[in-house]
Amino acid sequence: MNKLLLIILLGIQSFSMKIDVTHELQKCSNIKYHPSRLMCFDTLVRNITPLSEFETLGSDLTKECSHCHGAKYELSTIAGKKPVSKMSIDEIKIALYGYKNGTYGGKDSYTMENLIKQFTKDEIETIIEYIQFKRDKNK
Ligand code: HEC
Repeated sequence: MNKLLLIILLGIQSFSMKIDVTHELQKCSNIKYHPSRLMCFDTLVRNITPLSEFETLGSDLTKECSHCHGAKYELSTIAGKKPVSKMSIDEIKIALYGYKNGTYGGKDSYTMENLIKQFTKDEIETIIEYIQFKRDKNK
């Protein structure tokens, strides 16, 4: 019984953070005791954001971006800078967190800094995931 409680508590704790579905699936599969395993899968499924919700959130958070970067991030915002569409997801990630911390970009970085500072870490993660999602969709 104590073991079951521990599993539930661990479950609740990990879901208050961002979940790594593959890892969680593996973890649930490793549970031998059947009811606990079912409960683990059940909790996992309940905590996955439905695609429609993710799409709405992602498009809300990125609706401003197109004004300066173009609908497909194809515009170069500053002479010499490549458009965001030509950046890898890792490069975008470094740029966005850099703007958030005030450590990225040149003399015109204030635009992005002011914008990105309004977002939480979770929102920035969603923005990055949404950009990746749109790229995969258009492949
Ligand atoms: C008001 C105009 C404006 C808006 C809105 C805007 N950006 Fe930017 N963005 C810029 C400018 C200007 C730069 C270049 C700043 C600099 O000097 O680093 C930039 C740079 C970037 C870069 C780094 C580009 C590079 O080559 O290093 C990324 C990534 C980026 N923006 C993503 C976004 C995302 C995602 C959004 C929406 C959440 C967004 N931007 C909204 C103007 C904008």
